[in-house]
Amino acid sequence: MMNLTLKIWRQKNASDKGQIVDYPLSGVSPDMSFLEMLDVLNQELIEKGEQPVAFDHDCREGICGTCSLYINGRAHGPETKITACQLHMRSFKDGDTIYIEPWRAEAFPVVKDLIVDRTSFDRIQQAGGFISVNTSGNTQDANAIPIEKENADKAFDAATCIGCGACVASCKNSSAMLFVSAKVSQFALLPQGQVEATDRVLNMVKQMDEEGFGNCTNTGACEVECPKGISLENIARMNREYLSASLKG
Ligand code: SF4
Ligand code: FES
Repeated sequence: MMNLTLKIWRQKNASDKGQIVDYPLSGVSPDMSFLEMLDVLNQELIEKGEQPVAFDHDCREGICGTCSLYINGRAHGPETKITACQLHMRSFKDGDTIYIEPWRAEAFPVVKDLIVDRTSFDRIQQAGGFISVNTSGNTQDANAIPIEKENADKAFDAATCIGCGACVASCKNSSAMLFVSAKVSQFALLPQGQVEATDRVLNMVKQMDEEGFGNCTNTGACEVECPKGISLENIARMNREYLSASLKG
């Protein structure tokens, strides 16, 4: 069992200044997940009549992208290619001090404690992250359209982005380019995505800029910290798509 000191960002609401608060926690099993460890802390806080720490979570298996925690200065914690909910306490040592903070970016305002508002990502998706299919009864089976294996694989890789926002949180400019480029690429590589390709990239990039995300300066922190291993290659593809759409527009 481990004894830890947790230093957790507490912020009552969006307008509260917020501060780091220390919480000693004992009896932590190395087999607990990071979120289970926070559950134990919250149970203790509730029993003492204190406010539990608010944090986002849903699937707890690396799919939904909601568990946005900055742990010891890294998005999703010290391990690579996993989300915070897939992190286990065996990645830490007895006696460790662990800093737990929310994503920090202007376009992700803090709602409460460790929860941030990521609806800016939803609005980018709504601007073009979809295809329109005629479902009037004569819809063509998608599997009837031949697609090169390499493109199918790259489209699938791009589609594994879970919209967690770790790329934004790790970027010194709070750029959303990795996220947006994954969402553009998953369609740009497939024939089904071609109909709306021009509008898609122009509208999604426009929305990204309006939401207040920063510019990409090719540092690459996003790719390193992305739990799904989304490649920087997608940003290059989105830039090509954007250039060719601008010339057509
Ligand atoms: S690109 Fe990676 S880090 Fe960014 S939102 Fe998608 S899964 Fe998360
Ligand atoms: S809780 Fe769903 S990805 Fe972590």
